[in-house]
Amino acid sequence: MKFRQFTVSDFNSVIDLWQRAGLILSRSDTLEGIKEKLKRDSELFFVLEENGTIIGVVMGSYDGRRGWINHLAVDPEHQGNNLGQKIISELEIRLKKIGCEKLNLLIEMDNKQVKGFYENLGYKQDELLFMEKWI
Ligand SMILES: CC(C)(COP(=O)(O)OP(=O)(O)OC[C@H]1O[C@@H](n2cnc3c(N)ncnc32)[C@H](O)[C@@H]1OP(=O)(O)O)[C@@H](O)C(=O)NCCC(=O)NCCS
Repeated sequence: MKFRQFTVSDFNSVIDLWQRAGLILSRSDTLEGIKEKLKRDSELFFVLEENGTIIGVVMGSYDGRRGWINHLAVDPEHQGNNLGQKIISELEIRLKKIGCEKLNLLIEMDNKQVKGFYENLGYKQDELLFMEKWI
């Protein structure tokens, strides 16, 4: 089992994994959108691979102040084996190395059950209103 950077050729496998894991994809999750994302922080967008099969993925980012966790997923057949924890630890190490002090993440309201996973890793809920705009 090893971590390696996401590459464009992983696109279909990773989209499939995200969908099977139940993540909500957006209009940014097209091949073009993903290629755009790869122009920044490509070392924070990595997969966990076992015998050539991708079983986990995270799309991390760093805005120069905060680190962000996006699209974390473990293949449903491999969940519950501490792989999610392993991926987040790896992302934290990579972010710390580039000077990041704090990580943020957002949880969809219909995915509240994942809160316990993050709490287990030391993340705390902050009461904020999240606002957004597509441009
Ligand atoms: C969230 C996800 C990545 C976790 O990956 P995983 O490999 O199943 O989780 P792990 O096995 O690493 O869990 C690590 C620890 O958290 C605990 N945990 C996992 N899910 C939990 C939950 N929903 N509530 C409380 N604790 C949880 C585990 O029991 C384990 O604890 P332990 O170390 O004491 O045994 C995975 O369930 C997933 O892909 N979910 C669907 C996609 C998703 O929701 N992504 C997050 C979007 S914000």
